[in-house]
Amino acid sequence: MNPDPWLPRPYRVIGRIAETGDSATLTLAPDGDRLPEFRPGQFAMLYAHGVGEVPISVSAIPGDGTLVHTIRAVGAVSRALHDAEPGTVLGVRGPFGTAWRLDGDGDLLLVAGGIGLAPLRPVLRYALKRRSSRRVILIAGARTPADLLYRKELRGLSDPDGPEIVLTVDRGDDGWTGHVGFVTEPLATHPIDPLQTTALLCGPEPMMRFSARTLLRRGVPAERIEVSLERNMQCGTGLCGHCQFGPLLVCRDGPVAGYPVAEPLFQVKEL
Ligand SMILES: Cc1cc2nc3c(=O)[nH]c(=O)nc-3n(C[C@H](O)[C@H](O)[C@H](O)COP(=O)(O)OP(=O)(O)OC[C@H]3O[C@@H](n4cnc5c(N)ncnc54)[C@H](O)[C@@H]3O)c2cc1C
Ligand code: FES
Repeated sequence: MNPDPWLPRPYRVIGRIAETGDSATLTLAPDGDRLPEFRPGQFAMLYAHGVGEVPISVSAIPGDGTLVHTIRAVGAVSRALHDAEPGTVLGVRGPFGTAWRLDGDGDLLLVAGGIGLAPLRPVLRYALKRRSSRRVILIAGARTPADLLYRKELRGLSDPDGPEIVLTVDRGDDGWTGHVGFVTEPLATHPIDPLQTTALLCGPEPMMRFSARTLLRRGVPAERIEVSLERNMQCGTGLCGHCQFGPLLVCRDGPVAGYPVAEPLFQVKEL
């Protein structure tokens, strides 16, 4: 039975990992009824008591009823969630929104900017668990090496049978030996088979727009590109209209959308 989508369920923080200076990953366990399983790409409305509620994607799907979210502190609510210590009870509604396409054929190319890696991490884990002959490529960018999420986890995946991982930063530091520049630079040159590639993009809107254009130039069909849209939200259930983006309600018709649908909207200002 679907739970009442308006009723925040109590979930307790049972784990907190500081990922970067402004991002942390929380593991939440139900303090009562648990919500249905989330799919990669879907999001929860997380409520910090007395502060407010914001949409946050799942950044892992352990499958044991716990929820995992990586939160970057950018304002009052995300700061309160980011700072929540183990033992804190938060309110959770969901699962909401559309999910990434996981059952496509051919190779999987994930392109992430900043906190955009969080909603793609469950896809990476899913693809690695299935261990098919599919190539899995991750191209992820951040402002500086210190801002790159999940660095230890990604380092642990770097074996010849693992995913191809390309990390890039806007500004390097003394120890950085990887790429310096936007994700579009390695994206323009990394070997891919364009007609066999499904590309999932998540990050700031200009990053997704330029990445999609790079992929189109390389011959990846628009139908094989998906993006994750972001708009401010309130109800999460398609009723209040707060997240309207052209003809879409992002909480219901997104956040994951095919590029042919998203491309004309990237020019439209938020209502
Ligand atoms: C579907 C979806 C999934 C998301 N998943 C994650 C996630 O996994 N991890 C994560 O850290 N964040 C995620 N976000 C973004 C997160 O919801 C916002 O950072 C949060 O709403 C900011 O609220 P605030 O009250 O802390 O800050 P505010 O005071 O509301 O804003 C602080 C700054 O952030 C900007 N901002 C606020 N909300 C948004 C937004 N929705 N999109 C773009 N800019 C915004 C404001 O313009 C302002 O500059 C997601 C957003 C959506 C729509
Ligand atoms: S948040 Fe209310 S309609 Fe999308």
